[in-house]
Amino acid sequence: MARKIVAGNWKMNKTLNEGVELVKELKNELSKVNVNDVTVVVSPPYVNLSEIVKIAEGSSIQISAQNVHQEESGAFTGEISAQMLQSLGVGYVIIGHSERREYFGENAKDIAKKVDAVIAQGLTPIYCCGEVKQERESGNQNQIVGMQIKSELYHLSPEDFRKVVIAYEPVWAIGTGLTASPDQAQDMHAFIRKFISEKYGNDIANETSILYGGSCKPSNAAEIFCKKDVDGGLIGGASLKAEDFVGIINAFN
Ligand code: PGA
Repeated sequence: MARKIVAGNWKMNKTLNEGVELVKELKNELSKVNVNDVTVVVSPPYVNLSEIVKIAEGSSIQISAQNVHQEESGAFTGEISAQMLQSLGVGYVIIGHSERREYFGENAKDIAKKVDAVIAQGLTPIYCCGEVKQERESGNQNQIVGMQIKSELYHLSPEDFRKVVIAYEPVWAIGTGLTASPDQAQDMHAFIRKFISEKYGNDIANETSILYGGSCKPSNAAEIFCKKDVDGGLIGGASLKAEDFVGIINAFN
């Protein structure tokens, strides 16, 4: 069985104080509900990770970075390594988000190396893939997502692939208010699981958490999360308010 995960991606939002407040509220809200079998992750901007790790201590909330540089150290002005993140107590790293691919020119080679760097430090990559609108309209979504996974993850040994969490995020659904229908999400997740099983076998495919991302909110999370191959969500906008984020986590109940 794949682990259930709900991860918030704060993107470039929240000052230090606002982020601290949000995590305090989340801690408080989560202490009132039973979410034992759901792993809850939040991803603040780099600069606030250290403080947020401290605030989350003693709770079940896990902390993720939104990006990482692939090299261990050196002359890469402005960049952050997996080793640095590990030293802060960060447990997860979002890799290959479509905004990084689109606005910062991340390519398959960079993404594959980032996955390696994160795994080498014992952190969990939350690897993002997904098609753009035109690829969906022309019916090529499976081919595109399959190609991304193949070129960015299939160099991993089975042992390392086990450490990866996959987030399927149709680019046309991110921040647009347009959500994939529960059936569209299920079809893609089933495709991804089958695609993984062809390379790594059924056991690993069944254990891999495949999250859905793209305009997920409390009002639509339950109908998406109840689908067989959907193991949770990567949540942008709706992770910025404790009430909404907890509403989405509760969609599993
Ligand atoms: P959204 O973002 O929930 O605001 O659509 C999801 C994501 O980009 O991870």
